[in-house]
Amino acid sequence: MSNAPKNDRLLRVLRRESVDRTPVWLMRQAGRYLPEYRATRQRAGSFLAMAKNPYIACEVTLQPLARFPLDAAILFSDILTIPDAMGLELYFVDGEGPKFRHPVRDAASIAKLAVPDMETELRYVMDAVRLIRRELNDSVPLIGFSGSPWTLACYMVEGGGSKDFARIKTMALNDPAALHQLLSVNTDAVIAYLGAQRAAGAQVLQVFDTWGGVLSPEMYREFSLPYLTRIARELERGDDAQRTPLILFGKGNAPYLEELADSGAEGIGVDWLVELSEAARRTQGKVALQGNLDPAILYGSPEAIRRHVQRTLDSYATGNGTSREGHVFNLGHGMSPDMDPEHVAALVNAVHECSAR
Ligand code: CP3
Repeated sequence: MSNAPKNDRLLRVLRRESVDRTPVWLMRQAGRYLPEYRATRQRAGSFLAMAKNPYIACEVTLQPLARFPLDAAILFSDILTIPDAMGLELYFVDGEGPKFRHPVRDAASIAKLAVPDMETELRYVMDAVRLIRRELNDSVPLIGFSGSPWTLACYMVEGGGSKDFARIKTMALNDPAALHQLLSVNTDAVIAYLGAQRAAGAQVLQVFDTWGGVLSPEMYREFSLPYLTRIARELERGDDAQRTPLILFGKGNAPYLEELADSGAEGIGVDWLVELSEAARRTQGKVALQGNLDPAILYGSPEAIRRHVQRTLDSYATGNGTSREGHVFNLGHGMSPDMDPEHVAALVNAVHECSAR
């Protein structure tokens, strides 16, 4: 499964090679904003039924690619598959997001957690990866992904989404050893999970640290960054042109760009609160940068979208000695269900036209 895709722009940028134009894909490019996704979801019954059926996961992964000339596919799945397989039991309540039936809130329940077996308990994910690779037929690369140890721990301890992260921050303060134990088993699981996705055919891997930005700098450097770095260092991913690149995306990671650039990852994904010119200067060409259009720009007119795409491309180039190389175009976070597919088409076309070398 190591065949290079015909469209290898994303892989080339992550290897810091030159490309004819900037590659683009969008976080949550498969989702409720697409009528064909809503139809499939209706048929399957629920999001989890979709994600746990490899044929449906494959179908939904390919939906945005049939509409837009994107430069990559991203596996349709969720970051919460790992804690679900650890026995926490994931479920969704409409309008309330993800929840766990058995959250972990003390050292005793954390001590019982083990890394799930990737080819049994998480086989549906690996089967989806294999199926998608077959259906893509080496057209564009397939991105596999995982949550970060910290972001997974947030859901596992809170039992779902949270506004203030009170439970996990209480654990960080009152029982840091238990939290480190949880982060450590999560890190082992993430390394095994990404490794298994790579073995099944994923050609790029991304870690989502969605909640790293809710930590103070001192706590980020204790509870998130060291575990991201351990993944970047320990995840086996081959050498040279065969290497499977790793992207670390983090919401609110701008204060830590220098440290992330030294983590060993090939790419860093940033949100829209930082200028790409500044991010490029601060990372000094050590990594490729991915991002960072505010997803809300998709609510604007096609003309406004084009103007902001141009601005984002130019900001990166300004910080990178006028060169557009080393940039993967993306949003700074995921798309929302009420976005207009026509506006996504405008965005992708604008990236293609405005970044042509
Ligand atoms: O990017 C992609 O297109 C790939 C698919 C993908 C999904 N979730 C599909 C999904 C990816 C990469 C994720 C990751 C994920 N899941 C993250 C990290 C990325 C981020 O957005 O910060 C997080 C925090 C989760 C947890 C999660 N799963 C949330 C908060 C939700 C939304 C709940 C809601 O009601 O809006 C989900 C469900 C989910 N995952 C949906 C999709 C398309 C919506 C499913 C639906 O109701 O049909």
